Amino acid sequence: MCGIIGYVGNENAVPIIVEGLKKLEYRGYDSAGLAVYADGAFEVVKRKGRLSVLEKEIEQNPISSFIGIGHTRWATHGNPTDENAHPHLGHQSKIAVVHNGIIENYKQLSEKLTAKGIKFSSETDSEVIAQLAEYYYKGDIMETIIEVVNKLEGSYALGIMCLDEPDTLIAIKKDNPLIIGVSEHGQFIASDVPAVLKHTNKIYHLNDKEIAVLSEGAVQFYNIDKEPLQKPLETITWSSESAEKGRYPHFMLKEIMEQPKVLSDTINSVLNRGNNKTIIDNLDFSQFNKLVITACGSAYHAGVVAKNVFEQLCRITVEVELASEFRYKDAVIDDKTFVVLVSQSGETADTIAAMREAKSKGAVTLSIVNVVGSTIAKEADFCIYTAAGPEIAVASTKAFSTQLVLLYVLAIRFAVQLGKLSQGAEQQLISEIKTIPGKATDLLKQVDFIQKYAATCVGYKNVFFIGRNIDYAIALEGSLKLKEISYMHSEAYAGGELKHGTIALIEENTLVVAISTCKRLYSKIMSNVRQVISRGAKVLLIGDCSASEPSDKLSYISLPEINELFSPSLSVVVLQLFGYYVAANKGLDIDKPRNLAKCVTVE
Ligand code: M6R
Repeated sequence: MCGIIGYVGNENAVPIIVEGLKKLEYRGYDSAGLAVYADGAFEVVKRKGRLSVLEKEIEQNPISSFIGIGHTRWATHGNPTDENAHPHLGHQSKIAVVHNGIIENYKQLSEKLTAKGIKFSSETDSEVIAQLAEYYYKGDIMETIIEVVNKLEGSYALGIMCLDEPDTLIAIKKDNPLIIGVSEHGQFIASDVPAVLKHTNKIYHLNDKEIAVLSEGAVQFYNIDKEPLQKPLETITWSSESAEKGRYPHFMLKEIMEQPKVLSDTINSVLNRGNNKTIIDNLDFSQFNKLVITACGSAYHAGVVAKNVFEQLCRITVEVELASEFRYKDAVIDDKTFVVLVSQSGETADTIAAMREAKSKGAVTLSIVNVVGSTIAKEADFCIYTAAGPEIAVASTKAFSTQLVLLYVLAIRFAVQLGKLSQGAEQQLISEIKTIPGKATDLLKQVDFIQKYAATCVGYKNVFFIGRNIDYAIALEGSLKLKEISYMHSEAYAGGELKHGTIALIEENTLVVAISTCKRLYSKIMSNVRQVISRGAKVLLIGDCSASEPSDKLSYISLPEINELFSPSLSVVVLQLFGYYVAANKGLDIDKPRNLAKCVTVE
């Protein structure tokens, strides 16, 4: 976690770094800092708290330079304090470092340095990098960095400056993302593309243990043996506006509203390509006997929804595993297993580890990823990109929705290959998928009702989300959305489980959100609804509400008709808006919820 940015060029680096940090704040936001070179020394400003605190400090005491590095932190080692904020300097203030990642052997390394009389000024694992660099520095900064990283265990993306080479910025990474941006006026390093989009869409993706040396007019790449490398310059298709909030109060609302467009883009990217075959067309599932989907958080929930769809259409058993569990469970997989990894960022540490575990056992891996060039996208055997554009809010919305539609298309493909779906049925299902963006647009028009309803919900102590089969799968996502941004206690249960324990929690001042899109299970979920109402709960029913009358205990939101396998794509829009407006009514910092970061690059 944490965001890093660096700039060297012919413009003032300070506002460029601050603007870049704003775009990276989703990666961590408990403290922020920057270091610039000025008059033969580093000027370092770092402050505990949100980026705005740092901004205010810089406004009051302006600094400027043509080169600098900045950092926004999500604390892992040491509390959020001014001292623990990055950048860190070595003991002679000669080398400045920003770090994203975790140095696992920092204790051993710092003890050795402390024994040699070197004093540390923070509790972080990161400071050891700057201290080691100064300890080993003998006049060649690249040589020094290679020596230092060879001693580090763990993960890192680093931006480094050295006083002796004040025109140069150095970057290196292992297991954490780093891109290099090139523009007319200067060069950038950044944890993610949105940080540089205002200046350039031309970027290089840095691979593990590759070194980038940036100066005002050039970028050079080397491998860890100091041999020069040629890397392809990539053009990012995301517009700079796509990383701006525009007229919306929060990125989350903007991203919810963007769903019809990004759903269309994603569907078109795999279905409407004329004769151009996509990876989906080229995959052949018939050689496998097992399908495993693994991911974290919302992406895991997309997998739980997809399990229902794959099992219904392909008539195979599908395992869905939390990547954080999968990586340690010695899973029963081999070269006949097809493993699907789902990730917005493509950098989630647990999902990366799960992918590597699956590959080491011979499984074939396919990733569904949003961020182009990310680790999971590059390392999986196959990758399909969601066309969600940059997702900035910590709570995933449009990335989740686009993951779902790609998983549906994949399930249909595999069902055809397994001989479980006729051509006619395939076409029928694909036509249904194509209606999702339009139906999502219709649903978004109900925003006023959802907003008003959500305003009445801020006082609940407990909120339960219930559903059956595929509705239970999407209930999991509804519950996560609410709890992560509104800090309200919420759980999702399969409706049939209520009677096995959970119903004991139902009392006055409890809200139950019931999802009901499965026709054959309608009477079952309605029976759950009656059970909770008779115990004092209020219910919001989403889906098929045809046989229910609204009352002071029961409110409902109908969904447009759709094949029930794809109904999660519609119910989730209501669940996202509901979570959003509850949090908005509580006046919370929706895009940057407490304790969370967008991309979890640590365990
Ligand atoms: O980038 P990823 O999709 O791999 O991230 C996985 C989860 O960290 C992510 O979905 C998280 O649960 C979101 N905050 C959910 O809104």
